[in-house]
Amino acid sequence: MLRDVSKLVFENVKDMAGTEKAAGDFGRGAGGDISRNIDITAENTVINYFKEKKFECVILGEECGRVELSPNPKGFIIMDAIDGSANAIRGIPFFCCSLAFATEDKLSSITDGAITNLSTGEIFWASKGKGAFLDDKPISVQKEKPLYKIIGINTSGASSEQLKRFESIFQNHHHTRHFGANALEMAMFAQGLIDIYIDFRGKIRIQDMAAGYLLVKEAGGLMLDENLQPLESDLSYETRISFVAAPNNEILDEVIPK
Ligand code: IPD
Ligand code: CA
Repeated sequence: MLRDVSKLVFENVKDMAGTEKAAGDFGRGAGGDISRNIDITAENTVINYFKEKKFECVILGEECGRVELSPNPKGFIIMDAIDGSANAIRGIPFFCCSLAFATEDKLSSITDGAITNLSTGEIFWASKGKGAFLDDKPISVQKEKPLYKIIGINTSGASSEQLKRFESIFQNHHHTRHFGANALEMAMFAQGLIDIYIDFRGKIRIQDMAAGYLLVKEAGGLMLDENLQPLESDLSYETRISFVAAPNNEILDEVIPK
């Protein structure tokens, strides 16, 4: 279902990126940012799909907040219908739809996730215990020593204190990257294109990383908190976290300052 509805989102928004229509202002959403027309179009596609399917769930969306579709929900749909909204509005072809399903109010209960590249229609997806895939091809994090080590690091809006913690990363590693859509960057990490992905700003919402959390784990990676302990969190749309996605402890030791 997550993959099916992601295809509908792709169809409904693929011609909107960079247009005036995409930017229409709908006021502040539950996640605290201004909801744009492209965000609302994508969210409504998902909400209407699950209503039509009569799927008994609670939707936790970045713009809509908590939407209860049933008094007896089977679980939660964690939705960032457009992740990388600023890219989408400006027309930078790097934004996605991130959807996850969890049986309880915690990250570790996520059973399914789908991240759709809304510029290409490619779908990254995972089911607990069944592996991670890009469309129909299995994917895995990078375990080999790559020719160029690529460090994904989100510094957007980081405080000067946080930037100090990153200083040695920038000094010691030449290829640092941040593309502006957290979920899609996690998908690229799960695919093995990025060697480690760090977001220590304490700003990321659960919606932006829930599907990526399962995808990374099913692709053989570690999901850790800022103390390098296994990551756990509730699913509230008010929660903000820090995390690092790494293929193994060796690269963590190489990159993360102690
Ligand atoms: C944003 C993106 C961005 C990250 C921000 C998020 P949004 O999500 O994931 O890369 O730096 O913290 O809010 O607002 O485009 O859904
Ligand atoms: Ca969003």
